[in-house]
Amino acid sequence: MEPFDLLITGGTIVTHEGVAKADIAISGETIGAIGAPGTLGAAKETLDATGLHIMPGAIDVHVHYRDPGMAHKEDWDTGTAAAAMGGVTTVFEMPNTFPPTATPAALADKFERAKTARVDFGLYGLLAEDNIDQLEGLIAGGAAAFKCFMGNTTGNLPSPSTGAMLEGFEIIARHGHRISLHAETASIMAWRQAKLMEAGKNAPLDHLAARPAIVAIEAVQRAASLAEWTGARVHVLHISSADELRPLREAQARGVDITGETCPCYLMLDTDDYARLGPVIKVNPPVREPHHKAGLWAAILDGTIGLVATDHAPHTPEEKRNPDIWEAGAGFPGVETLMPLMLNAVAEGCLSLEQLVRISAYNPARAFGLAPFKGRIAVGSHADLALFDLAAETTIDQAKLHSLRARITPFHGKRVKGVAMHTLSRGQFVMKNKTLVEASRGHGRSVHRLQSMPAPKPLRVEQSLSHLLGSSRADGTTLADRKA
Ligand code: DOR
Ligand code: ZN
Repeated sequence: MEPFDLLITGGTIVTHEGVAKADIAISGETIGAIGAPGTLGAAKETLDATGLHIMPGAIDVHVHYRDPGMAHKEDWDTGTAAAAMGGVTTVFEMPNTFPPTATPAALADKFERAKTARVDFGLYGLLAEDNIDQLEGLIAGGAAAFKCFMGNTTGNLPSPSTGAMLEGFEIIARHGHRISLHAETASIMAWRQAKLMEAGKNAPLDHLAARPAIVAIEAVQRAASLAEWTGARVHVLHISSADELRPLREAQARGVDITGETCPCYLMLDTDDYARLGPVIKVNPPVREPHHKAGLWAAILDGTIGLVATDHAPHTPEEKRNPDIWEAGAGFPGVETLMPLMLNAVAEGCLSLEQLVRISAYNPARAFGLAPFKGRIAVGSHADLALFDLAAETTIDQAKLHSLRARITPFHGKRVKGVAMHTLSRGQFVMKNKTLVEASRGHGRSVHRLQSMPAPKPLRVEQSLSHLLGSSRADGTTLADRKA
């Protein structure tokens, strides 16, 4: 028998189910064998992982890599270098670039730009008011998921009407792709921001005043209703408040396929940090009052929030430091610090290692159609692995971030326990001994061909617009089939 390509010995494997000391053998791009320490025989190369924990590479379903149009903030090379350095092996990239990823041509252009990716990626297509006729083409062109901006943010994409959303959900539901929602209601925010601006307010906390939690409650409720009606799978991005958990829980209890995500900034920062951080803390949705954090942690532990992601949103330091809060850049780079911050939370007792694997890899893989290839450590799965030293401590230093043009984060100076040592993407080192593997440039691949997303059954097929207008169903079934 051919020897394995790589043997990882002496480490402790962490999956969503448990922790065990075991060796891992890699053949090509996949895991070839897992066995008790010392039992797997020979390999061409060996990595001694004594003292390290081996986790499935994290899957961050929420990053903004800015190319095309804003490459002065980030591009695919720097953005995926940051991912590799942080133990993130798959990213889903957002469509609010210039031009937005709203047409098959824009998607094809982004695939070209993503050729420098160092880790695997999915591309989001946009669901907007004016591109409903492009959605089928985006799916055919390889969009891995969709993004709908119910609220304004970087790029100022207008939020679609509820009518356009309903038709978009109907179309996408036939294919089973997940629709990720920026769930903040634009009209409430525009109204409040205009009043605040009129009154001359422009401090960091005024940004929070323009976006109270009701904007998220209303948006989650409305999106959940549309998902329930159409059978669309949806995902609530960057949950910032404990309040929007109620409509999320209610929809989940009714059987709506709706997942939720939060980000480290909502779990670890609050209004007490605004004075210290100034406009650097600006993010959409905003960091909120202290009590929300406990609600979000509880929702992670009870499974309501199934995913952790970053909303990796690079801006230049000058854009972030603009003292006029309405003009300052919203968001900050996060993909490189996600796992150190979350491992530090494990060290502080906020969640277990298994729970962290569940929300950082296992659940994202299942929600976005990547299981069983990704999100687990199992024979036959991709060898996407992140090795951490959980005893090592480090201080987050923004000057060392690999998002070279956006080295600014509210976590600068934070001491964390848990350091990423090595990252493998489909069997290849993309980070080794805390050093970026330069040759990993271009290794990343689109995940869309892995996706298996059986179309769910819409609940109200007989009233879908395409049915009323007489167009045939994409999957070839008739209404009678559906009712049967
Ligand atoms: O703060 C944010 N920044 N929130 C978003 O939803 C988008 C992001 C960006 O693209 O800058
Ligand atoms: Zn975002």
